Amino acid sequence: MKKMKRNGFLAFGFSTLLLLAACGGGEEASSGTDNPEGGSAEQAGESIQFDVSLPLGPGSHQDVGVQAFGEELERLSDGRLTIKSHHNNSLGGEREVVEGMSINSIDIGITSTGPLGGFVQEFFMFDMPYLFNDYDHAYAVLDSEIGEELAAKLEEQAGVKILAWMENGFRHETNSVRPIHSPDDLKDIKHRTQESEVQVDTWTALGTNATPMAWPEVYTALQQGVMESQENPLPTIYDVKFFEVQDYLAMTQHVYSPAPLMMSKQLFDSLSAEDQAIIMEAAEIALPIQREASQQQAEEMKQMLADEGMEVTEPDLEAFKAAVEPVYEKWAPQIGEDVIDQVRNFEY
Ligand code: MLT
Repeated sequence: MKKMKRNGFLAFGFSTLLLLAACGGGEEASSGTDNPEGGSAEQAGESIQFDVSLPLGPGSHQDVGVQAFGEELERLSDGRLTIKSHHNNSLGGEREVVEGMSINSIDIGITSTGPLGGFVQEFFMFDMPYLFNDYDHAYAVLDSEIGEELAAKLEEQAGVKILAWMENGFRHETNSVRPIHSPDDLKDIKHRTQESEVQVDTWTALGTNATPMAWPEVYTALQQGVMESQENPLPTIYDVKFFEVQDYLAMTQHVYSPAPLMMSKQLFDSLSAEDQAIIMEAAEIALPIQREASQQQAEEMKQMLADEGMEVTEPDLEAFKAAVEPVYEKWAPQIGEDVIDQVRNFEY
C-alpha cells in the first residue's frame, strides 16, 4: 500500500509554478494523488494529507472553519484524510494561491473573492458596493443557484472547485490620516485595494488615490506610509493588528466579502467518488460553523478595535452610495445587468 502525503508548497511566483508544472511539477507538485496504477486513493487505502492555505492566522474565523473541515474529514474517513493548515498566506498571496490550485500545486485554500474577478469576470459582482443588505441576503444568494452557477464557472474556467461559500464578512475602511464621516474626507488618501479593477474604480470614485496590492504586502505598506488606508472586515483588521498602524476606523460596510474554501479541481477529480463525497460533506458541515464564527467575531471586534485605540466613525452611507454610482454605470453591463438586478432584488 502506498502511503501518500501531499507536502507543503513554498511561495513561488506564478511563472515558477508554470515552469514546475511544465517540467512535471517537481517533487512536491508531483506527489499528488494521481495514481498511475489506476486505483483510487480510497481503493488503495491510502492516507492523504491536504495542505490548506489561509490568509488569516490561528483563531481567526477562517481558521475555525478550516479546523472544523479538517475534523470532519478525519471523522468521516476514519482518520485517513487529514489537513495541514498554512496561516497568514505563507504559501503565497491570494491570487498566487488560486493560480496554484488551478495547476494543482496547491491543494486547498481560502481566499476572498477580490482576486477571483481576474479569473472569472462574474466574480467582480462581489466587489460592487452596497449590493448586499445584510448577512441573510448574502447567504440566500450564495446558497442559491446563483452561487452554484458562479462555482461552476470558476471550476470550468480556472480549474478551481468551490467546496463551501465561507466568508470574510462586511468590509470597513481604516486609515492613518483622519476620521471619515463622508466621502469628502477620503480625498487623495493613498488607499490599498485588492487586486480588482472594480475596487480600484470604487475607491477612485470615493476620492482616494487607489492602488491594488497583494494581501501579504499590506501591513508593511501601511506601516511605512506607502499606503495610508485599506478596507477589510473587522475580524481581519483585528487579526492582523492593523490598529498598530491605522488610527481611524470608518464603518462603511461597503461590500460583503465571501471567502470560499476551494480545492484544485485536478486534485479533486483524481480522488475516489467516496473521498469526493467525504470532502463535500465535511465542507458542508464546516460552513455554518465558519459563518457563525465570522459574525460573532465581527460583533465583538468593533469594541475591541476601539479599546486598541482606534477612533470609530459611523459615516453617512447615503453619501457613499451616491458617490459609487459611476461604478454601477461602468461595471453592471460588463458583469451582467440581469444578475446584478437578480441579486439586489433577491427574496430572502
Ligand atoms: C484582502 O484584503 O486581501 C483580504 O480580505 C484578506 C483576506 O482574505 O483575509
